[in-house]
Amino acid sequence: MKKLKIGFIGTGSICQGNHLPHYAAMTDVEIYAICDILPDVAKTVAEKYNVKRVFTDYNEMLKLDEIDAVDVCTPNNFHSPAAVASLNAGKHVIVEKPIARTAAEAQVMVDAAHRNKKKLQVAHCIRFQPGNQALKRFVDDGEMGEVYYAKAQATRRRGVPSWGVFTNKEKQGGGPLIDIGVHAMDTTLWLMGHPKPISATGMACTKFGNREGVCNAWGPWDPKTYTVEDFAAGFVRFENGASMVVESSFAANIDHGIFNATLVGTEGGCEMTPVKMFKEKHGVLIDVTPVSLPTVDIYQQEIIAFLNAIRNDTEVLVTGEQCLITAKIIDAIYKSAKTGKEVEIG
Ligand SMILES: NC(=O)c1ccc[n+]([C@@H]2O[C@H](COP(=O)([O-])OP(=O)(O)OC[C@H]3O[C@@H](n4cnc5c(N)ncnc54)[C@H](O)[C@@H]3O)[C@@H](O)[C@H]2O)c1
Repeated sequence: MKKLKIGFIGTGSICQGNHLPHYAAMTDVEIYAICDILPDVAKTVAEKYNVKRVFTDYNEMLKLDEIDAVDVCTPNNFHSPAAVASLNAGKHVIVEKPIARTAAEAQVMVDAAHRNKKKLQVAHCIRFQPGNQALKRFVDDGEMGEVYYAKAQATRRRGVPSWGVFTNKEKQGGGPLIDIGVHAMDTTLWLMGHPKPISATGMACTKFGNREGVCNAWGPWDPKTYTVEDFAAGFVRFENGASMVVESSFAANIDHGIFNATLVGTEGGCEMTPVKMFKEKHGVLIDVTPVSLPTVDIYQQEIIAFLNAIRNDTEVLVTGEQCLITAKIIDAIYKSAKTGKEVEIG
């Protein structure tokens, strides 16, 4: 089988920790080119993986015709420009989550993928957890009946990222809502079957980010450069009558952090953390708990799925279109938080 040649844009933490090692372990792909705006980072990574083609400008890297696919792991502000440039250069793209900072940025990515007839997969790795894959099969088979309510939660009691650019609004587009809330929302919306959102109302605030000396699981951050929210919540209505609540925080005075997706349906309900279903059978309320789920590396699984979609010319599991819907919801929650009004989603 011909080896797929992969180019990498943004080779920081997630790329080094959770992407590159998986490609390196595969015999049917080649880590072909590396690009990072920090020359030292690019050089170190290139040396580790014995890569000859090293760049600090992705437009230069994209001139390499041999590259089949590009893995984008930059901060969020470059997801859209780097993905669009890659798609326009005829490469398939896997891009880290969130798809982009805004729905407008996401839309141009989706359009570029269509125009160039290339795959665009967003790296929402949580979908690849075997428990979530199992839940999806149950939901799709009608075990929940009509899902009329859902909850997406990604709350941390004290978990402000003290590294990288996660507290920089310009680079990330927002705080916990777009960084971790998006993971919970993606799983929840996927389990729900991506109903069409029609409106959202929400709030977002910064109560800890700009304070000095706040306890934090990951040590101190710089409160002077903190420009994102540290708590956001939203209520979303869908065309099919269902609704979804979203909660996310980097810091909040709560008992403990929660990372969960909850579905409530007429025939059953379910939760992601831990994976469990709630049913009524033969006049008895029962909990259904999977007992022998395999242990997998979800990052490896999403990469394998992306490569398979390229090789077999099949649809990726996490599509740009689906993530565009999530981006529209996030836009609407942030807008509602500013205006204090419910925002329609077109
Ligand atoms: N799926 C997950 O669970 C998960 C976990 C962590 C981060 N992420 C996502 O991964 C992305 C990167 O996060 P990170 O923690 O690796 O950040 P990071 O800051 O450690 O790495 C980003 C790298 O991109 C480089 N870069 C910035 N602009 C660039 C450009 N224009 N061209 C080339 N390189 C550029 C930076 O120099 C840096 O090395 C973010 O979008 C984040 O949301 C996803």
